Amino acid sequence: DRLPELLRRMPKAELHIHIEGSLEPDLIFALAQRNSVAIPYASVDELRRAYAFTNLQSFLDIYYAGASVLLHEQDFYDMARAYLARAAMDNVAHTEIFFDPQTHTARGVKMDTVINGLHCACVDAQAELNISASLILCFLRHLSETEAFETLEQALPHRDKFIGVGLDSSELGHPPEKFARVFARCRELGLHLVAHAGEEGPPAYIWTALDILKVERIDHGVQSSKDAALMQRLARDRIPLTVCPLSNLKLCVFPQLADHNIGALLEAGLVATINSDDPAYFGGYMNENFLQTFAATGLAAQHAYQLACNSFEASFIEPGAKRRYL
Ligand code: ADE
Ligand code: ZN
Repeated sequence: DRLPELLRRMPKAELHIHIEGSLEPDLIFALAQRNSVAIPYASVDELRRAYAFTNLQSFLDIYYAGASVLLHEQDFYDMARAYLARAAMDNVAHTEIFFDPQTHTARGVKMDTVINGLHCACVDAQAELNISASLILCFLRHLSETEAFETLEQALPHRDKFIGVGLDSSELGHPPEKFARVFARCRELGLHLVAHAGEEGPPAYIWTALDILKVERIDHGVQSSKDAALMQRLARDRIPLTVCPLSNLKLCVFPQLADHNIGALLEAGLVATINSDDPAYFGGYMNENFLQTFAATGLAAQHAYQLACNSFEASFIEPGAKRRYL
Protein backbone atom coordinates (compact mmCIF):
# COMPACT_ATOMS: atom_id res chain seq x y z
CA ASP A 1 0.00 0.00 0.00
CA ARG A 2 1.65 3.19 -1.21
CA LEU A 3 -0.90 5.66 0.20
CA PRO A 4 1.09 6.47 3.40
CA GLU A 5 4.15 7.26 1.27
CA LEU A 6 2.06 9.57 -0.95
CA LEU A 7 0.65 11.34 2.13
CA ARG A 8 4.11 11.85 3.60
CA ARG A 9 5.78 13.00 0.43
CA MET A 10 3.20 15.25 -1.20
CA PRO A 11 3.86 18.98 -0.86
CA LYS A 12 1.22 20.63 1.33
CA ALA A 13 0.37 23.92 2.99
CA GLU A 14 -0.50 24.18 6.67
CA LEU A 15 -3.09 26.88 7.41
CA HIS A 16 -4.13 26.18 11.00
CA ILE A 17 -1.31 25.93 13.52
CA HIS A 18 -1.08 27.91 16.76
CA ILE A 19 2.61 28.44 17.37
CA GLU A 20 2.06 28.24 21.17
CA GLY A 21 0.49 24.83 20.50
CA SER A 22 3.75 23.60 18.95
CA LEU A 23 5.60 24.04 22.25
CA GLU A 24 6.72 20.52 23.15
CA PRO A 25 6.93 19.43 26.82
CA ASP A 26 10.74 19.18 26.58
CA LEU A 27 11.00 22.77 25.37
CA ILE A 28 8.52 23.95 28.04
CA PHE A 29 10.82 22.47 30.68
CA ALA A 30 14.01 23.80 29.06
CA LEU A 31 12.56 27.33 28.83
CA ALA A 32 11.16 27.16 32.38
CA GLN A 33 14.69 26.44 33.57
CA ARG A 34 16.36 29.00 31.29
CA ASN A 35 13.95 31.72 32.45
CA SER A 36 13.50 30.59 36.08
CA VAL A 37 9.73 30.33 35.61
CA ALA A 38 7.93 27.98 38.00
CA ILE A 39 5.45 25.59 36.38
CA PRO A 40 2.98 23.42 38.31
CA TYR A 41 4.36 20.12 36.94
CA ALA A 42 7.29 18.21 38.43
CA SER A 43 8.48 16.54 35.22
CA VAL A 44 7.97 16.25 31.48
CA ASP A 45 6.06 13.01 32.10
CA GLU A 46 3.77 14.60 34.66
CA LEU A 47 3.04 17.41 32.19
CA ARG A 48 2.30 14.89 29.42
CA ARG A 49 -0.07 13.01 31.72
CA ALA A 50 -2.09 16.25 32.10
CA TYR A 51 -2.84 16.15 28.36
CA ALA A 52 -6.15 14.32 28.78
CA PHE A 53 -8.78 16.71 27.50
CA THR A 54 -12.57 16.53 27.56
CA ASN A 55 -13.38 19.67 25.58
CA LEU A 56 -11.81 22.87 24.24
CA GLN A 57 -11.66 24.68 27.60
CA SER A 58 -9.91 21.80 29.38
CA PHE A 59 -7.17 22.08 26.76
CA LEU A 60 -6.94 25.89 26.75
CA ASP A 61 -6.27 25.99 30.51
CA ILE A 62 -3.14 23.84 30.08
CA TYR A 63 -2.11 25.50 26.81
CA TYR A 64 -2.04 28.97 28.42
CA ALA A 65 -0.06 27.57 31.39
CA GLY A 66 2.52 26.09 28.98
CA ALA A 67 2.95 29.42 27.18
CA SER A 68 3.94 31.14 30.46
CA VAL A 69 7.59 30.05 30.00
CA LEU A 70 7.97 32.32 26.93
CA LEU A 71 9.62 35.61 27.92
CA HIS A 72 12.37 36.67 25.53
CA GLU A 73 12.66 37.14 21.78
CA GLN A 74 14.96 34.10 21.67
CA ASP A 75 12.24 31.94 23.27
CA PHE A 76 9.73 32.86 20.56
CA TYR A 77 12.42 32.31 17.93
CA ASP A 78 13.35 28.86 19.29
CA MET A 79 9.70 27.74 19.48
CA ALA A 80 8.96 28.80 15.91
CA ARG A 81 12.21 27.40 14.52
CA ALA A 82 11.48 24.02 16.10
CA TYR A 83 8.00 23.99 14.54
CA LEU A 84 9.27 25.08 11.11
CA ALA A 85 11.96 22.37 11.08
CA ARG A 86 9.35 19.77 12.02
CA ALA A 87 6.89 21.03 9.37
CA ALA A 88 9.59 20.95 6.68
CA MET A 89 10.15 17.25 7.53
CA ASP A 90 6.47 16.66 6.71
CA ASN A 91 6.90 18.33 3.29
CA VAL A 92 4.99 21.42 4.33
CA ALA A 93 6.06 23.90 1.63
CA HIS A 94 4.14 26.85 3.06
CA THR A 95 2.63 27.58 6.47
CA GLU A 96 0.46 30.35 7.90
CA ILE A 97 1.13 30.50 11.62
CA PHE A 98 -1.30 31.80 14.25
CA PHE A 99 0.03 33.53 17.32
CA ASP A 100 -1.81 34.78 20.42
CA PRO A 101 -0.08 38.03 21.50
CA GLN A 102 -2.51 38.69 24.36
CA THR A 103 -1.37 35.49 26.11
CA HIS A 104 2.05 37.14 26.34
CA THR A 105 1.36 40.88 26.67
CA ALA A 106 -0.95 40.08 29.62
CA ARG A 107 2.17 38.70 31.40
CA GLY A 108 4.23 41.82 30.67
CA VAL A 109 5.97 40.55 27.52
CA LYS A 110 6.29 43.30 24.88
CA MET A 111 4.48 42.95 21.55
CA ASP A 112 7.83 43.69 19.84
CA THR A 113 9.45 40.71 21.60
CA VAL A 114 6.73 38.33 20.41
CA ILE A 115 6.53 39.49 16.80
CA ASN A 116 10.27 40.00 16.24
CA GLY A 117 11.13 36.52 17.58
CA LEU A 118 8.51 34.79 15.45
CA HIS A 119 9.27 36.86 12.36
CA CYS A 120 13.04 36.20 12.51
CA ALA A 121 12.35 32.47 12.71
CA CYS A 122 10.15 32.68 9.58
CA VAL A 123 12.82 34.62 7.65
CA ASP A 124 15.59 32.19 8.63
CA ALA A 125 13.45 29.14 7.85
CA GLN A 126 12.87 30.37 4.29
CA ALA A 127 16.63 30.59 3.75
CA GLU A 128 17.71 27.51 5.69
CA LEU A 129 14.78 25.07 5.36
CA ASN A 130 13.17 26.27 2.10
CA ILE A 131 9.76 26.60 3.78
CA SER A 132 7.72 29.79 3.36
CA ALA A 133 5.96 31.04 6.47
CA SER A 134 3.62 33.94 7.25
CA LEU A 135 2.12 35.08 10.55
CA ILE A 136 -1.56 35.62 11.46
CA LEU A 137 -2.31 37.53 14.69
CA CYS A 138 -5.22 36.03 16.64
CA PHE A 139 -7.46 37.92 19.04
CA LEU A 140 -8.55 35.97 22.12
CA ARG A 141 -12.35 35.85 21.97
CA HIS A 142 -12.81 35.34 25.74
CA LEU A 143 -11.40 38.88 26.15
CA SER A 144 -13.21 42.08 25.13
CA GLU A 145 -13.30 43.81 21.76
CA THR A 146 -11.67 46.83 23.43
CA GLU A 147 -8.70 44.64 24.35
CA ALA A 148 -8.57 43.37 20.77
CA PHE A 149 -8.39 46.99 19.54
CA GLU A 150 -5.53 47.68 22.00
CA THR A 151 -3.71 44.59 20.73
CA LEU A 152 -4.15 45.70 17.11
CA GLU A 153 -2.79 49.14 18.01
CA GLN A 154 0.32 47.59 19.62
CA ALA A 155 0.90 45.35 16.60
CA LEU A 156 0.49 47.97 13.86
CA PRO A 157 4.12 49.18 14.01
CA HIS A 158 4.84 45.62 12.78
CA ARG A 159 2.16 45.66 10.05
CA ASP A 160 4.67 44.28 7.50
CA LYS A 161 5.36 41.19 9.64
CA PHE A 162 1.86 39.65 9.67
CA ILE A 163 -0.58 39.03 6.83
CA GLY A 164 -3.86 38.78 8.67
CA VAL A 165 -5.88 38.39 11.83
CA GLY A 166 -7.86 35.53 13.33
CA LEU A 167 -10.10 34.78 16.29
CA ASP A 168 -9.44 31.92 18.70
CA SER A 169 -9.83 30.66 22.31
CA SER A 170 -13.12 29.76 24.06
CA GLU A 171 -15.82 29.64 21.38
CA LEU A 172 -19.12 29.01 23.20
CA GLY A 173 -20.58 32.27 24.52
CA HIS A 174 -18.18 34.37 22.42
CA PRO A 175 -19.77 34.60 18.96
CA PRO A 176 -17.89 36.22 16.07
CA GLU A 177 -20.14 39.31 16.07
CA LYS A 178 -18.59 40.33 19.41
CA PHE A 179 -15.60 41.42 17.25
CA ALA A 180 -17.50 43.09 14.38
CA ARG A 181 -15.84 46.51 14.73
CA VAL A 182 -12.25 45.37 15.15
CA PHE A 183 -12.55 43.03 12.15
CA ALA A 184 -14.04 45.89 10.09
CA ARG A 185 -10.98 47.97 10.99
CA CYS A 186 -8.61 45.13 10.07
CA ARG A 187 -10.41 44.80 6.73
CA GLU A 188 -9.83 48.51 6.05
CA LEU A 189 -6.16 47.95 6.83
CA GLY A 190 -5.97 45.31 4.09
CA LEU A 191 -5.34 42.42 6.47
CA HIS A 192 -6.55 38.93 5.61
CA LEU A 193 -9.37 37.76 7.89
CA VAL A 194 -10.04 34.31 9.35
CA ALA A 195 -11.89 33.07 12.45
CA HIS A 196 -12.36 29.86 14.40
CA ALA A 197 -16.06 28.96 14.09
CA GLY A 198 -18.04 25.76 14.35
CA GLU A 199 -15.39 23.83 16.30
CA GLU A 200 -17.71 23.32 19.30
CA GLY A 201 -20.01 26.22 18.46
CA PRO A 202 -23.16 26.12 16.30
CA PRO A 203 -23.49 26.73 12.54
CA ALA A 204 -24.89 30.18 13.46
CA TYR A 205 -21.33 31.21 14.45
CA ILE A 206 -20.06 30.23 10.98
CA TRP A 207 -22.79 32.34 9.35
CA THR A 208 -21.87 35.40 11.43
CA ALA A 209 -18.14 34.88 10.84
CA LEU A 210 -18.91 35.03 7.10
CA ASP A 211 -21.62 37.70 7.01
CA ILE A 212 -20.55 40.03 9.84
CA LEU A 213 -16.77 39.56 10.15
CA LYS A 214 -16.41 38.84 6.39
CA VAL A 215 -13.71 36.24 6.92
CA GLU A 216 -12.05 34.54 3.95
CA ARG A 217 -11.60 31.15 5.67
CA ILE A 218 -13.25 29.32 8.55
CA ASP A 219 -10.97 27.59 11.06
CA HIS A 220 -12.43 24.16 11.95
CA GLY A 221 -16.01 24.67 10.66
CA VAL A 222 -16.80 20.98 11.14
CA GLN A 223 -20.23 21.80 12.62
CA SER A 224 -21.27 23.13 9.17
CA SER A 225 -22.44 19.63 8.23
CA LYS A 226 -25.43 20.22 10.56
CA ASP A 227 -26.75 22.98 8.24
CA ALA A 228 -27.45 22.12 4.58
CA ALA A 229 -27.87 25.76 3.51
CA LEU A 230 -24.51 26.61 5.08
CA MET A 231 -22.83 23.71 3.26
CA GLN A 232 -24.19 25.12 -0.02
CA ARG A 233 -22.91 28.61 0.82
CA LEU A 234 -19.42 27.32 1.68
CA ALA A 235 -19.27 25.26 -1.53
CA ARG A 236 -20.66 28.03 -3.76
CA ASP A 237 -18.30 30.71 -2.45
CA ARG A 238 -15.34 28.31 -2.12
CA ILE A 239 -14.82 29.34 1.52
CA PRO A 240 -12.07 27.06 2.82
CA LEU A 241 -12.35 25.12 6.09
CA THR A 242 -9.09 24.49 7.95
CA VAL A 243 -9.99 21.18 9.58
CA CYS A 244 -7.85 19.61 12.33
CA PRO A 245 -8.76 15.93 12.77
CA LEU A 246 -6.47 14.94 15.67
CA SER A 247 -7.48 18.11 17.52
CA ASN A 248 -11.16 17.24 17.05
CA LEU A 249 -10.46 13.73 18.35
CA LYS A 250 -8.49 14.89 21.43
CA LEU A 251 -11.05 17.59 22.30
CA CYS A 252 -13.92 15.10 21.91
CA VAL A 253 -15.60 16.93 19.01
CA PHE A 254 -15.93 13.46 17.43
CA PRO A 255 -15.88 10.29 19.58
CA GLN A 256 -13.53 8.47 17.18
CA LEU A 257 -11.49 9.47 14.13
CA ALA A 258 -13.61 7.03 12.09
CA ASP A 259 -16.61 9.28 12.86
CA HIS A 260 -14.90 12.42 11.47
CA ASN A 261 -16.80 14.22 8.70
CA ILE A 262 -13.78 15.30 6.59
CA GLY A 263 -14.81 12.81 3.88
CA ALA A 264 -18.37 14.21 3.81
CA LEU A 265 -17.04 17.78 3.59
CA LEU A 266 -14.86 16.86 0.61
CA GLU A 267 -17.65 14.89 -1.08
CA ALA A 268 -19.90 17.98 -0.74
CA GLY A 269 -17.32 19.93 -2.76
CA LEU A 270 -16.03 22.08 0.09
CA VAL A 271 -12.48 23.43 0.05
CA ALA A 272 -11.56 21.45 3.17
CA THR A 273 -7.94 21.13 4.32
CA ILE A 274 -6.12 19.05 6.97
CA ASN A 275 -4.03 20.84 9.62
CA SER A 276 -2.43 20.16 13.00
CA ASP A 277 -3.88 22.99 15.24
CA ASP A 278 -1.74 22.37 18.37
CA PRO A 279 0.53 19.47 17.43
CA ALA A 280 2.49 19.28 20.70
CA TYR A 281 -0.77 18.75 22.60
CA PHE A 282 -2.82 16.62 20.19
CA GLY A 283 -0.32 13.91 19.27
CA GLY A 284 0.73 14.76 15.75
CA TYR A 285 2.11 17.18 13.20
CA MET A 286 0.81 17.37 9.62
CA ASN A 287 1.71 13.92 8.32
CA GLU A 288 0.41 12.21 11.43
CA ASN A 289 -2.91 14.00 10.91
CA PHE A 290 -3.04 12.82 7.29
CA LEU A 291 -1.93 9.24 8.06
CA GLN A 292 -4.29 8.64 10.98
CA THR A 293 -7.25 10.31 9.27
CA PHE A 294 -6.83 8.34 6.06
CA ALA A 295 -6.37 5.06 7.97
CA ALA A 296 -9.47 5.64 10.11
CA THR A 297 -11.88 7.03 7.51
CA GLY A 298 -10.86 5.17 4.36
CA LEU A 299 -10.02 8.24 2.29
CA ALA A 300 -8.04 7.37 -0.85
CA ALA A 301 -5.37 8.82 -3.15
CA GLN A 302 -7.77 11.16 -4.96
CA HIS A 303 -8.68 12.71 -1.60
CA ALA A 304 -4.99 13.21 -0.82
CA TYR A 305 -4.54 15.05 -4.11
CA GLN A 306 -7.68 17.14 -3.45
CA LEU A 307 -6.51 18.05 0.07
CA ALA A 308 -3.07 19.13 -1.16
CA CYS A 309 -4.63 21.27 -3.94
CA ASN A 310 -7.15 22.72 -1.50
CA SER A 311 -4.37 23.69 0.93
CA PHE A 312 -2.60 25.83 -1.68
CA GLU A 313 -5.85 27.25 -3.10
CA ALA A 314 -6.95 28.22 0.44
CA SER A 315 -3.59 29.80 1.31
CA PHE A 316 -2.83 33.52 1.19
CA ILE A 317 0.16 32.99 -1.13
CA GLU A 318 0.16 35.69 -3.85
CA PRO A 319 -2.01 34.51 -6.77
CA GLY A 320 0.99 34.64 -9.13
CA ALA A 321 3.14 32.43 -6.91
CA LYS A 322 0.20 30.12 -6.15
CA ARG A 323 0.07 28.78 -9.70
CA ARG A 324 3.35 26.97 -9.03
CA TYR A 325 1.60 24.66 -6.59
CA LEU A 326 -1.77 24.04 -8.29
N1 ADE B 1 -6.24 28.07 20.56
C1 ADE B 1 -5.37 27.08 20.29
N2 ADE B 1 -6.00 26.04 19.74
C2 ADE B 1 -7.32 26.38 19.66
C3 ADE B 1 -8.48 25.73 19.19
N3 ADE B 1 -8.45 24.50 18.68
N4 ADE B 1 -9.65 26.37 19.28
C4 ADE B 1 -9.71 27.61 19.80
N5 ADE B 1 -8.64 28.25 20.24
C5 ADE B 1 -7.46 27.65 20.18
ZN1 ZN C 1 -7.13 26.36 16.28
